[in-house]
Amino acid sequence: DTIDTELAFALENFGTPPERIRERVREVVTEFRLGELDGRLRELSGGQQQRVACAAAVTHGPPALLLDEPTSNLSPQGIADLTAVLRHLRERGTTLVIAEHRLHYLRELADRIVVMQDGRVAKEWSRDEFPGLTEEMMREEGLRSLDAPERIHVAPAFGYGPSVQPAETRPEDTESTGESGGATAVAPAAGGEAAGGGVVLRGIRCAFRGRPVLDITEAHLPAGVITAVTGPNGAGKTTLARVLAGLQRHSGEVLLDGRTMSRSRRQRETAIVMQDVQRQLFTDSVTAELRLGAVPEQAGHAATVLADLDLDRFDERHPLSLSGGQQQRLVVATARLSGRRVVIFDEPSSGVDRRHLQSMTRTMRDVAEGGAVVLLISHDADLLALAADRELRLRPIR
Ligand SMILES: Nc1ncnc2c1ncn2[C@@H]1O[C@H](COP(=O)(O)OP(=O)(O)OP(=O)(O)O)[C@@H](O)[C@H]1O
Ligand SMILES: [Mg+2]
Repeated sequence: DTIDTELAFALENFGTPPERIRERVREVVTEFRLGELDGRLRELSGGQQQRVACAAAVTHGPPALLLDEPTSNLSPQGIADLTAVLRHLRERGTTLVIAEHRLHYLRELADRIVVMQDGRVAKEWSRDEFPGLTEEMMREEGLRSLDAPERIHVAPAFGYGPSVQPAETRPEDTESTGESGGATAVAPAAGGEAAGGGVVLRGIRCAFRGRPVLDITEAHLPAGVITAVTGPNGAGKTTLARVLAGLQRHSGEVLLDGRTMSRSRRQRETAIVMQDVQRQLFTDSVTAELRLGAVPEQAGHAATVLADLDLDRFDERHPLSLSGGQQQRLVVATARLSGRRVVIFDEPSSGVDRRHLQSMTRTMRDVAEGGAVVLLISHDADLLALAADRELRLRPIR
């Protein structure tokens, strides 16, 4: 239930003396900066949970550690912290095996990269070969870049309030906004966007047990474009998604095309791809899953969408038997066919390789071009660079 008991669990099973367990848990809490999080695991954000899981795996000092996409929900700061810990473990002689799509943090860490294809080893590169690996070679293998992705520079979405990171704190944006006050501002959308309407958030505040976690005075999310929602772990991104989907109690109001949307209307008009996709796979085949989510007007596109997302080979498979990345793409396909006015993708790219980042971006683009308000919540710089038209950057409320 709690961070401390989770960390102590393995040591307790090994019969470690309680005094030693307490000492070791304190060390790990410091090393992984878990002290700033309060308590219960169920209430942590996705990235916070991932940090706790990594910490729990190393508490008992295992000689070998296997990590399956440990960075899929981590902010750049979270990735830097994890890299430091992994480097430390490597120096102490721990064997590390890491399955990953985001390779840039492994450049300095890995001794070997093994590329797998259809269950076999297709390529193998040792550390001294890394400098010779060109962008073309990586692309050919369908791999993401070994170089750290550059910070994206997209226009800030209109928005301000305690949870919104003001644009002028990002030097590259000051020129375009010309603002000096507290607001992150671009002129609310030119031409087509304004005509297409969209979502306006006013005075949105959420708190958990009296602790405020989201506070947006005003923000605009235009229809027809992809608005990225970014910010560190725990900034309130998923909470905002839940507000828009009508799943979260809050104060303030949400308007669509100028009209207030009740929570129940939001539940009907919003599709959401959750950070944890397994929670939203309900049927016993890929085809049935799509049929469940598709509106009649969109059902005709099912075959194309499946082919685009490279899922057509799997139509009779049980959704839960698919790999993580395939499940992710399936839920994205369902959202594409949902015909909803507001479509939210919360960290859709865990388990997604380079090639599928592109097909996923095309799918999100189709949804936006159909006139929907599209929100892309992501830490994945590769995906943001491909897909984001606007950025609403959130920050934790202190
Ligand atoms: N049910 C809950 N009860 C108590 N606190 C919660 C609950 N859900 C979220 N929180 C807290 O609210 C804050 C915002 O959480 P949220 O999930 O919106 O973050 P996020 O920006 O999506 O983070 P991440 O990048 O890690 O997914 C976090 O500090 C989290 O611990
Ligand atoms: Mg989240």
